[in-house]
Order: sequence, then structure tokens, then C-alpha cells
Amino acid sequence: MAFTPPDHVRRIQPYVPGRAVEAVARELGLARIVKLASNENPLGPSPRALEAAAAALSEVHRYPEGTGFDLVAALAARLGVEPQQIVLGNGSNELLDLVARTYYRPGDTALTSENSFVVYRLAMEVLGSTCRTVPMRDHTYDLEALAAAVEPSTRFLFVANPNNPTGTAVTATALRRLLDRLPESCLCCLDEAYFEYRDPEADPVDGIALLQEGYPIAVFRTFSKTYGLAGLRLGYCVGPRWLAEDLNRTREPFNTNRIAQAAALAALADEAHVARVVELNRRERDRLADGLRRLGLAPPPSQANFLYAELPRPASEVAEAMLRRGVIVRPVGPRAIRITVGLPEENDLCLEALAAAVEPSTRFLFVANPNNPTGTA
Ligand SMILES: Cc1ncc(COP(=O)(O)O)c(C=O)c1O
Repeated sequence: MAFTPPDHVRRIQPYVPGRAVEAVARELGLARIVKLASNENPLGPSPRALEAAAAALSEVHRYPEGTGFDLVAALAARLGVEPQQIVLGNGSNELLDLVARTYYRPGDTALTSENSFVVYRLAMEVLGSTCRTVPMRDHTYDLEALAAAVEPSTRFLFVANPNNPTGTAVTATALRRLLDRLPESCLCCLDEAYFEYRDPEADPVDGIALLQEGYPIAVFRTFSKTYGLAGLRLGYCVGPRWLAEDLNRTREPFNTNRIAQAAALAALADEAHVARVVELNRRERDRLADGLRRLGLAPPPSQANFLYAELPRPASEVAEAMLRRGVIVRPVGPRAIRITVGLPEENDLCLEALAAAVEPSTRFLFVANPNNPTGTA
């Protein structure tokens, strides 16, 4: 018998990451590529994080501290929680997956919104299960509909807030209302990868505050976005102590490396850098959104570091046309793209490329039928 995975694994559509800059530059022979496809931080990390990472290199022959003791202590102090409530992961992605693996029993399912983060579906499919979705309302999680769709088998409710790819966020009031209706048998996994970019005036959700109010939820955050450390892979989960205890049973012993731990610790301390990142993003996101509106597009209000736009043409064609002008964006549906907010000059190039792509220069298609001179029809 051939050595094959079970059918549920064979059916999984693998995650397709954004294309690497080097590969695109080589393929198209372009000197300059602007990558606005993976919601990365255009300013990069704090210089202090880079110094700490470089210093940690001299110890790479030693295993890392398994729990990330120093980083966990610093996070606990910053967030006002106990260190025993925090588990580090190789990106928050690992922890989203780990929660599903830790608590899943055959027959369990998950629930989330349509047009949300693809990893929730993957985490369930690898277990042979499914992640059901409910429609969005105005490109935003419809929390009423989610609450109504919870079934006895629903073990996990994944909420990305702000959401990827739409950038929209729900209010704290609306989320509390949902949590009040959630049965104890269902764990709300609140994914706050874009937490720092939220609009402080819009009754924003703060998962840690909800935990402190007594809601037994799992909150996921990351150093990949505002802290600019996507390449080092460091995320964390905060929850009630029992949740962290369970995840510590199932995670790999050395799941985060010592370079990432050191860099994240230094990045956390550089609050001025994070403030610069958030401010640049706010300014440029507004400008990019204005540019999209001038092109006749209508991005929903984003509280993240990217914009979502529905298009008058197939997204693959628009993305391909932009790529030929050296700008990589992410198709996120048949007629929708997601654009990461970049540096001012990157956003200018993006708007130029997008204008050319959505308003193609071909205005007329002449068809002679029957044709002259062939006579064919
Ligand atoms: C909503 C959301 N959650 C989680 C992640 C994973 O982030 P990481 O694994 O880099 O911490 C991402 C990454 O883009 C995301 O968009």
C-alpha cells in the first residue's frame, strides 16, 4: 500500500503566502519591487530589537529558555496579567493551531465569519473537522449572526479583530453581548494580530480587558505587525491560567527561539518606535484610502495596516497588471484585493499602478463578423 495521508489531509487547500520580492524581481527583470501583500511593517523593527537579536547570536549553540521567561515576565507586567496566563508561540499562527489541537474532540467544529483569516479553517481541517462561516455585514463580523449560529458541537469561535482581510473591527459593546450569549462549551479565540492599529475612538475591543472582566477567552497577539518582527516568528496567547497550563502540555518544548525572544523583549521596551509605526500607518492609510476612492473604489473603514477593495475587474488581472509595474498586492477573492499600507513613496507607486490596472487603456474591441478578408464567422 502506498504511504499516503488520510483523505481529510489530501483535501486541504494549502495556504498560499504572498510572493517573495526576490522571486518577482528576478522573473520580471524589475529593479524595484514594492511589496504590499503581507501586512508587514514598512518601518521594520526597533533598532534596539536588531541589536538584541545580534547579541543573542553568540549563544545560539544553547537551547532557548523553554518558556521565554524574561519575555513572558515583561509581557505580564505590561498587560497587567500573571505570567502563568501567557504562552509564547512561533508566531500567533502556531498558537491558533495549538489551541484547536489541544481541545479538539472528534465531532467538534469551529465557527467564524466569511472573509476572515484562512488559518482558522486550516487549523480545523487538519484535524478532520470544519470551520463553518456566517456572512458578514458591511464587510464586518456580524456578531449577532455568529451568536445565533453556535451549535452544541461548536468548540471554537474565531474572531479576528481587526479582521484580515477587510480591516474592519467590531466594538467592545457588541463583543461583550456575544460573549454573554456564548455557552461554556465554546471557547472564543480572539485574534488581535492588528491590536495596536485600532481606532481608540471607536469603542475598541481590548481582549486583555475582557479577560480581566472575567470572560474566559483566549487572546492572540503578535510581534509580527507593529513590532516589525514577522521574520523572527513570535506571538503569544493570553488566557485564564487553565488555558496556559493546557497549552504548555501540548506545545513543543522549545517552540520559540532565543533570537526572537531577545528581539521581542527589546522591541516591547521601545514604545516610541511602536508609536511612530502606528502614526505613519494612520496617516498613510487615510491617504491611500482617499486615493482608492478617487479611483471609484470604496474600501471599508480599516483599523489595521491594510485596505480591502472590491474591484470592477477580476482581482487576478488587477494584481497581475500591478505586478508588471513592480507592485505586489494580494488578491483575496475573485474581485477583491488587499493592499498593505507602505511608506509614502510606496503608496504613491501603488496608486499609480492601481489606476492603470483598474482603468485599462483598451477602450474598444472591434469584431468583424463574418470577417473580411477570411469570410469566416
Ligand atoms: C488575523 C491574523 N491573525 C494571525 C496572523 C499570524 O501572525 P503571526 O503568525 O505572524 O503572529 C496574521 C498574519 O497575517 C493575521 O492576519
